[in-house]
Amino acid sequence: MEYESALEALQLHYNEIQSTHMRDLFAQDEHRFDRFSLEFDGLLLDYSKNRINEDTLSLLTGLARAAQVENWRDAMFSGKKINFTEDRAVLHAALRAEDNESVEVDGQDVGPDVHAVLDHMTEFSEQVRSGKWTGYTGRASTDIVNIGIGGSDLGPKMVCEALQPYQPDGLNLHFVSNVDGTQIEGILEGLDPSTTLFIIVSKTFTTQETITNANTARHWFLEQAQSEEQVKKHFVAVSTNRKLVEDFGISTDNMFGFWDWVGGRYSLWSAVGLSIMLAIGPGQYRQLLAGARAMDEHFRTQPLAENMPVILALIGFWYRQFYQTGSHAVLPYDYLLKHLPAYLQQADMESNGKSTDREGNRVDYLTASVLWGDSGINGQHSFYQLLHQGTQLVPIDFIASINTHSQLKQHHNIMISNVLAQGEALMLGRNEAETRQILAQRHDNHETIELLLPHMIFEGNRPSNTLLLDAITPYRLGMLIAMYEHKIFVEGILWNINSYDQWGVELGKQLAGQILPQLSAEQPITDHDQSTNGLINHYRQHLEKQSHSN
Ligand code: F6P
Repeated sequence: MEYESALEALQLHYNEIQSTHMRDLFAQDEHRFDRFSLEFDGLLLDYSKNRINEDTLSLLTGLARAAQVENWRDAMFSGKKINFTEDRAVLHAALRAEDNESVEVDGQDVGPDVHAVLDHMTEFSEQVRSGKWTGYTGRASTDIVNIGIGGSDLGPKMVCEALQPYQPDGLNLHFVSNVDGTQIEGILEGLDPSTTLFIIVSKTFTTQETITNANTARHWFLEQAQSEEQVKKHFVAVSTNRKLVEDFGISTDNMFGFWDWVGGRYSLWSAVGLSIMLAIGPGQYRQLLAGARAMDEHFRTQPLAENMPVILALIGFWYRQFYQTGSHAVLPYDYLLKHLPAYLQQADMESNGKSTDREGNRVDYLTASVLWGDSGINGQHSFYQLLHQGTQLVPIDFIASINTHSQLKQHHNIMISNVLAQGEALMLGRNEAETRQILAQRHDNHETIELLLPHMIFEGNRPSNTLLLDAITPYRLGMLIAMYEHKIFVEGILWNINSYDQWGVELGKQLAGQILPQLSAEQPITDHDQSTNGLINHYRQHLEKQSHSN
């Protein structure tokens, strides 16, 4: 009930504040930036360009308290099985905890196992990076191919890309996720089997896309290497499924385990991050963990109103619940972060794209919106038109780094001037009088001015958060990712949903299993709905024609 009344109070507040323009909020408060920004360990969050005032924040933090965010947070960190539909703890934070920290699951401290796997990864990475790990012809590895999908791909790929400046020459990373053969064909084409190392990453080791690609890679390798025995030198696995890993021909000495309390989309801190460790080295990988640990600590200890992930979650909730926004954009202004939006799509939408609450009821409110994004600077020349003048309100996270790894510093200043300008333009807009003035400078003709005027007005009042990192380092990146993980957690609590299961991915997989053999059936297919039958049969007929004509 406390939650209900906190929500009602927010509704009343929304009714009052909804038409207030942020221009006025800034005009009324010369300390607005200081009031609505947070700085922590090389990461600045400016959230002043949001449709909020101090009352909004205090009502939102009240709601968070009523939803027991702090209790849930403690329950998560202490290893309680908060993922109750899968009867699992949610302990990705334990993967980056200090050596001496103890977290128990079912009465057992998970720390020693976590550190044993980290040590195993370290030993293996050092061997590969130093060239001591050799393939079937005695040569060192030059290419590493990570085969996985979803959480077994997106996190490692995003981090390896972001930390490219930390990678040595002579070791190339590749990521295969798509079951479309075009991807793996393209990658294998440029590789030499004798110097290629495959990491098969699958929590279950049953994911169709991953196992299909892994078998293709194995086949490609054996065509050259000839002996099954050599598979052990070129394939390693990251999985929780020992039996299937062994069946594939991978030595369990080269299997890196993890546990059911690590969700796929939260797994880059586990052995799933092996490709990251190979790319940047064990020392820098531990920096990534340390950054995440610093954010864990911040999240765990800071009051709600000074807590970055909590603030982001409250603002996210505010727009979704009251402004009913349909999407949220993440727009990095750093080329190294180009895969971050795709990574966050899984993290956010697979976690909070739910419509059943913890008690099993259909929710009667909105939960996660569509998360999308791309490189901001490129977006300015494509989709930003809608952000500025479209009919939808799209809250945005701009992300930029202050110091670039690039030598072309002037490029970086151009980038930064653009991200700052975009936040300003979206917030301020350009009202009628300002637009009229600009038009008068450009045109003498009254009719032209009146024609153009309505098209050139920017309403403004479009919200954004800006995150400025000192630089993209392993440590800061760890902080950034953990910040989003905790934001997602808090939003899930506010919506009273379980953020850690993903039943929504099941049905499609199951039906694909039925349809696959039907695609090569002799007889027309009739056991689906008409549309699906029609599509299957069309595919079959045209496939036949194609193979005949070839
Ligand atoms: O289908 C969704 C999913 O289960 C994700 O949650 C997961 O990250 C991905 O597939 C890959 O799963 P696995 O690591 O078991 O191959």
